[in-house]
Amino acid sequence: MFEDQQSWTSVSLFGVFVALLLLHLLHSNFNSDKKPEPPGPRPVPLFGNLFQLNLKRLDQSLLNLSKKYGPVFQVSFGPQKVVVLAGYRTVRQALVNQAVEFGNREITPAFFVINKGYGLVLSNGDSWKEMRRFALATLRDFGMGKKMSEEIIIEECNYLIKEFEQFEGHIFDKTKAVHYAVTNVISALMFGKRFEYKDPVFQAVVDRDNEIIHLVGTASLWLYNVFPWLGPFLKNCRDLIKNVEGNKVDVRKIIADLKKTLNPEVCRCFVDAFLIRRKHLEDSENKILHYHDDNLLYSVLNLLQGGNDTTANTLKWSLLYMTKYPLIQARVQEELSRVVGSRQVQTEDRKNLPYTDAVIHETQRLANILPMAILHATSKDVTFQGYFISEGTTVVPLLTSVLYDESEWESPHSFNPSHFLDKEGKFIRRDAFIPFSAGRRACIGESLARMELFLFFTSLLQHFRFTPPPGVSEDELDLTPVVGFTLCPRPQNLCVVRRN
Ligand code: HEM
Repeated sequence: MFEDQQSWTSVSLFGVFVALLLLHLLHSNFNSDKKPEPPGPRPVPLFGNLFQLNLKRLDQSLLNLSKKYGPVFQVSFGPQKVVVLAGYRTVRQALVNQAVEFGNREITPAFFVINKGYGLVLSNGDSWKEMRRFALATLRDFGMGKKMSEEIIIEECNYLIKEFEQFEGHIFDKTKAVHYAVTNVISALMFGKRFEYKDPVFQAVVDRDNEIIHLVGTASLWLYNVFPWLGPFLKNCRDLIKNVEGNKVDVRKIIADLKKTLNPEVCRCFVDAFLIRRKHLEDSENKILHYHDDNLLYSVLNLLQGGNDTTANTLKWSLLYMTKYPLIQARVQEELSRVVGSRQVQTEDRKNLPYTDAVIHETQRLANILPMAILHATSKDVTFQGYFISEGTTVVPLLTSVLYDESEWESPHSFNPSHFLDKEGKFIRRDAFIPFSAGRRACIGESLARMELFLFFTSLLQHFRFTPPPGVSEDELDLTPVVGFTLCPRPQNLCVVRRN
C-alpha cells in the first residue's frame, strides 16, 4: 500500500515536470518571433549599471556607451531599464516617426515631487493632452512668437540694459538679472504683469526655480530616483521639496489675487484664460474635468520654470562665448552696426543678420542646455530598429549625441558659427539642430524662446562689449558647465563696456 502511494507520487511529480517543460517550450516557441532587447552593459543585481555610470555627468557617460553599444542601447538604473537613443537619425526616427510610442513622460520620483503628475511637463494621458493644447492655443492668443510678445521682450530688454549699465566698466557677475528679465517675459503672459528685479518675492520664485532645475540633475537625486526610500537622508531631496513648496505658496497667492479681480469680459493673461474656460465649462454644465486648481497651479509653475532656466542660461552662454571669442563678438557688432545702427532691433531684422543668427544657433548647439531632453517613456510595446522595447520603459533622447553628432557637424566640439552659414555667408538651417527636441513632447515655448534669444542678445551686443576681467585672458575663461538638469555656464566675472 505504502509503495503504491510512493509510485503514485513519483508519477504525478513526473507529470507536473513534463507539463511545465511543455509549457516552457510552448512559451519560448510562441515568443520566438519576439525581437531581442537593445544591447547594453551587463547589469549587476540591485544596482544595475550604476557603477558604470558617472551620475555627475550622465549625458557624457551615455554618449561614451553609445560608441560601444550603438544608437539604441539599454542601461539599468538599479532595477529599472532605461533605453538610450543616440545620434540625430535615431532620435528623430523615434520622436518624430514613432511619436506616439515614444511620447510619454517618465515620471521619476523626483519629477513626482515637483508636479504630482499634474500640469504640462511632467504629466501624461488626457490631462497632459488637454493642458498642452490649451497652453499652446492660449500662448498663441497672447502673441507668443508674434508682435505682442515682441513688444513685451523689447520693454524687458530696456530694463536689462539699464541693469547692465550699472556695471559699466566694472567686473560683474551677470547671472541674476538675465534670469529676472526672461522670467518677466513669461510672467507678463502668465499674470499680465512684470515684477521689479528687486521684488523679494519675485527674486525668491526665480531663485527657487533655478535651484529646482539644478537639484533634479544632481547625482543624489538620480540615486533618489532609483532608491526612493533614501529621500529623507538626502539633503538635495529635502531642498528640492522645500523649494517646490515655497514656489507653490508664492504662485498660489498671485493666482488668488487674479481670481479676486477676474472679469470674464476682459482676459488679461494665461491664468484668466484658464479661469474663464473653467467658468464656461461650468455654465454649460460640462464637467470641468482637467480645468482644476492643481492643473492651473502646476501648468503656471511649469511655464515659469520652462521660460526661465533654459532661456536665461542660453543667453548667459552667449555672453560667455562672445567674451571668449572676441573676433566673433566684433563681427556680430559690425553686422549689427551696419544693418541696424543704433535703433532698436526688431525680429524682422533677423533675416538681414545672417552672421548674428548663426552665432545664436551655434550658441544653442554647443551650450546643449538640456542634454537628455526630459525623460520620455514608451506608451506601448514597440519594436524599434529591430529591438523590442516594452511599454512603460524609460527613454533618454540623448540630445548631446544629436547636437554633437560627428556625422552631422563639421566641428562638433568647437564654437563655429559656419555650421549655420553657406559659402556666401547666408544663414542655413540644419536638420540636426534640435535643442528644443522634436515630436509630441517638443518644447512648447520654442517660438517665444527664439524671439527672446534674438532680441536680448542683439540688444545687449548693440549696447555693450564683453571682455574678461583685467589680468584674465580669454583662454582662461572656463567653458566647463555646472551640471544640473540643465548645463549652465560656470559663474565667472566678466567686464561690461558701453559701446556708444
Ligand atoms: C532656449 C530655451 C529653451 C530650450 C532650449 C527648451 C528646450 C526644451 C526641451 C529640450 C524640452 C523637452 C522636450 C522633450 O522632452 O522631448 C522642453 C519641454 C518644454 N518646454 Fe522648453 N525650452 C526652452 C524654453 C522654453 C520656454 C520659454 C517655455 C515656456 C514658454 C518652455 C516650455 C516648455 C514646456 C511646457 C515643455 C514640456 C512640453 C511637454 O512635455 O509636452 N520652454 N523644452
